[in-house]
Amino acid sequence: MSGKYRFNNIIKVRYEQFEKLPRDLMSDSEAVFLWGDEYWQHVPQFVLDYLNEVANSYDLDTRTNSEAKQNWYAHDYRDAIAEKLLVEDRIKLDDPRKQIGTCHGAADGFACIAGIFLEPGDEVLVVDPQFTFAWGLPDLHGAKTISVPISEEGNWNIAEEDVPDLLEPKINNKTKMMIMCMPGNPTGTVFSEGTTKAIGDILSDHEIIYLEDSVYERRLYDDSKFVSMGSIPSMKDYAVCVRGFSKIYNVRPFRTGYIVANEEIIDKVWRWHMLGGIDPSSIYMKVLAKCLRKEMSEPLPPRWHEDYKREWDVMRKWTYEAINNNQWLSCVMPQAGTYHFVNTSKLGSSDEVFSILRDKYKVLLTPGTWYGPRGEGYMRLCYAANLPEDTKNGVNRFLDAVTEIGRNKSL
Ligand SMILES: Cc1ncc(COP(=O)(O)O)c(C=O)c1O
Repeated sequence: MSGKYRFNNIIKVRYEQFEKLPRDLMSDSEAVFLWGDEYWQHVPQFVLDYLNEVANSYDLDTRTNSEAKQNWYAHDYRDAIAEKLLVEDRIKLDDPRKQIGTCHGAADGFACIAGIFLEPGDEVLVVDPQFTFAWGLPDLHGAKTISVPISEEGNWNIAEEDVPDLLEPKINNKTKMMIMCMPGNPTGTVFSEGTTKAIGDILSDHEIIYLEDSVYERRLYDDSKFVSMGSIPSMKDYAVCVRGFSKIYNVRPFRTGYIVANEEIIDKVWRWHMLGGIDPSSIYMKVLAKCLRKEMSEPLPPRWHEDYKREWDVMRKWTYEAINNNQWLSCVMPQAGTYHFVNTSKLGSSDEVFSILRDKYKVLLTPGTWYGPRGEGYMRLCYAANLPEDTKNGVNRFLDAVTEIGRNKSL
């Protein structure tokens, strides 16, 4: 740091993803990436068809282009989302056009909500371990994160009856928000309806905002069911649900998402976006509205998605067996997402294991500590990082490396 500039808290925000990933490794064909989601499944054909249809009908004449004028209001997009929320999530909005805000992907939605609420002195509850936004955004605004620990022994979950003892002692008059990635990344946790309701009842009593990141809403296994905090009656005015389409339709480059909340909150979302984000592209919003409408007119869950999930499920089970058959490792079967949160504590700290795997074996997983203090001793492994055969080869390289590290350690 040169000391030349007077930056704000941005200097506290960690971005080890870039710092710890040397450029030469990224283009090294021998390196194995079990780092993050790089879907092998294609964007569903109907999404591509709608994209072509909308793009081809787009009027580039600025005098007649009503699309661009409508962009500001995004009525069609928000109406389609309201239909989806009602059918798929049992969320009934009083006035969808006032209760749905737009954003450039879920990431932008979280930044916006943190931007309109958080300030120095605030406290934010974070179920730990949890995805990086939950730690970085409070840091940016000078708010303090309060870890609400979960554990491997407890299947990275919270039983309904344990909620009061876990949450109440962490709450005081500075507590403004709880941030929750649900279904969980990196742990694959899915809270039961009872747990969600128990959390909601406590938070609403204290008028605490629940910022819900549910980008993995459809990536669920077995009989897991995602219950959004937006459907819990006591949280009607305090749940802020942020969603995107990157994980649903594999369309991360669209950068289009939405925020569902009380209309007073959405009014502030508009103000925030006047300063920075403005609206996502009207083309993508129109495409996504068509996609949602098509899906809501057919039985859920959609067939194409079930097919994708079956393929992820094969990899989930294969990697689970492989990890737990290695004497140095263990993991819990995740109920959602495309990650295993692997216990590597017999081999050393998260950072040590990360560095050895990277430097000696060119195997890249993310260290558990990126997801909070409770991630110490763990590494996140993505089983949708590549085509299944390549992922299997990568996992085998990881397991061989682990066995060698373990053997050297016990010598
Ligand atoms: C848990 C979680 N939330 C949000 C995002 C970002 O979603 P979007 O592409 O909609 O900004 C990611 C991306 O990887 C994620 O893993």
